[in-house]
Amino acid sequence: MGWGFVVVLLTMAMVIQRTSSIRANWGTQASHPLPPDTVVRMLRDNNIQKVKLFDAEYDTLKALGESRIEVMVGIPNEMLSTLASSLKAAEKWVAINVSTHISTNNVNIRYVAVGNEPFLSSYNGSYLNTTFPALRNIQTALTKAGLQNQVKVTCPLNADVYETSTTLPSGGNFRANIHDLMITIVKFLSENDSPFTVNIYPFISLYNDDKFPIDYALGVSKPLSDGETLYNNMFDANYDTLVHALEKNGFGKMPIVVGEIGWPTGGDKNANVEFARKFNQGFMDHISGGKGTPKRPGPIDAYLFSLIDEDRKSVEPGYFERHWGLFTFDGLPKYAFNLGTTNTGALVQAKEVNYLMKKWCVMKPNVRLDDPQVAASVSFACSRGDCTSLGVGTSCGKLDGKENVSYAFNSYYQMNDQEDKACKFSNISEVTKTDPSTETCRFPIMILPYYSEAAQGQVFFLPLLMATAIVLLSVF
Ligand SMILES: *[C@@H]1O[C@H](CO)[C@@H](O)[C@H](O)[C@H]1NC(C)=O
Ligand SMILES: *[C@@H]1O[C@H](CO)[C@@H](O)[C@H](O)[C@H]1NC(C)=O
Ligand SMILES: *[C@@H]1O[C@H](CO)[C@@H](O)[C@H](O)[C@H]1NC(C)=O
Ligand SMILES: *[C@@H]1O[C@H](CO)[C@@H](O)[C@H](O)[C@H]1NC(C)=O
Ligand SMILES: *[C@@H]1O[C@H](CO)[C@@H](O)[C@H](O)[C@H]1NC(C)=O
Repeated sequence: MGWGFVVVLLTMAMVIQRTSSIRANWGTQASHPLPPDTVVRMLRDNNIQKVKLFDAEYDTLKALGESRIEVMVGIPNEMLSTLASSLKAAEKWVAINVSTHISTNNVNIRYVAVGNEPFLSSYNGSYLNTTFPALRNIQTALTKAGLQNQVKVTCPLNADVYETSTTLPSGGNFRANIHDLMITIVKFLSENDSPFTVNIYPFISLYNDDKFPIDYALGVSKPLSDGETLYNNMFDANYDTLVHALEKNGFGKMPIVVGEIGWPTGGDKNANVEFARKFNQGFMDHISGGKGTPKRPGPIDAYLFSLIDEDRKSVEPGYFERHWGLFTFDGLPKYAFNLGTTNTGALVQAKEVNYLMKKWCVMKPNVRLDDPQVAASVSFACSRGDCTSLGVGTSCGKLDGKENVSYAFNSYYQMNDQEDKACKFSNISEVTKTDPSTETCRFPIMILPYYSEAAQGQVFFLPLLMATAIVLLSVF
């Protein structure tokens, strides 16, 4: 074997390593999630090779088992205290939600995300005591199961776990009130060859501070200079603040995974298709060359947030929460976005999606907006439906008063699977077969509800159980 051959092999290895694979977050807090098989097919059609989940739903994992897609399963914050206090519980979690799926369903699980942004300031320290012990117990359980080389633990943290004393990346360090805890966690991750996972959101910076320069968030601004280094986008600056924080504490080489990054398309004046496209495309183009950031050259591993809109996400952080998807709830691409993975350069929509009937619930044309029933009905409909697209500046922000009311009614009606009684707002609503959508605002028709295989399994299992019982009874 000549040296030329070795060089070719090395070059190939470098090329493979430098082409970062496309990753996305797949959340399922939706009233009508697409069937997992449909989503997995959509992932494959778009050549998305790695997904991050927020839990370990059986059907989702089973569907992923038929692909070679690499999976990060998640542990919700609510489970941390149980897993922290009981190694048995952690072993059970690993057995059911990792080992079984690897051995019997052939799922390519590579990471377990322990908690989701548990140290977020708005949680008031609720998970400070339990996150690390849970992380340690899950690691122990993985090791006991012989999976420690194949499956790595990590803990997706919000970028608010670090800060900078100087407004520049070079001043980066971990937040003072959790500094020691962060070092404990980082040291543990490092000992187990696990990455540091961080979620970075330029959009939230803009949302929290109106004066935040929007073109810096989007990535095309007057550079910020940090000594010799120039930063012309917020992602690089934020990421390098973390690199500095790690380096300052003796972990300068620690691998970093960006657990979430993205831009929403609705629910706020800065959340629209134009900005989302600009940010996400800009970000993908930025990382696709494998150039990295000024402080950390090389490929960047990042999971886009998010794959599909989720109409049941909490809107406590803001209405935008339900609009992070690259795809709508029914798997339609929202804008032209080139991941560099499909022949056409465009996103491929979900196939074989089953919709309810072509009908909508709207306000009766002869009813007046000042009818005393209107306000109360709208507030009822919005509290159970989803009206987060109605704010100023978002996709449905230009509707007039009556269209607004119709939007609310329709949302409630569709969310309730077009049940007749869900379009009976004290005589002021009616069902129509004429699409009320406008050029920018879609009045959706819901998709068929999906019933999990597990639930169907029980229905199937019950008669079987009874039959067995009868057989046994007749024997004795
Ligand atoms: C496995 O994960 C699911 C979904 O997150 C969770 O509901 C369940 O409690 C977990 N199983 C165990 C044994 O912890
Ligand atoms: C955190 O504290 C604030 C203010 O005291 C309170 O409004 C909020 O509900 C708390 N959040 C949680 C998750 O406990
Ligand atoms: C965490 O532990 C400290 C010290 O033991 C205790 O004071 C604090 O109340 C605990 N916090 C929570 C949220 O349990
Ligand atoms: C439509 O509804 C939204 C959200 O409730 C509200 O902000 C907006 O002012 C309404 N528009 C009209 C024209 O009534
Ligand atoms: C509903 O409206 C129709 C016609 O607009 C009217 O005849 C009927 O009395 C109304 N019913 C109620 C309960 O208000």
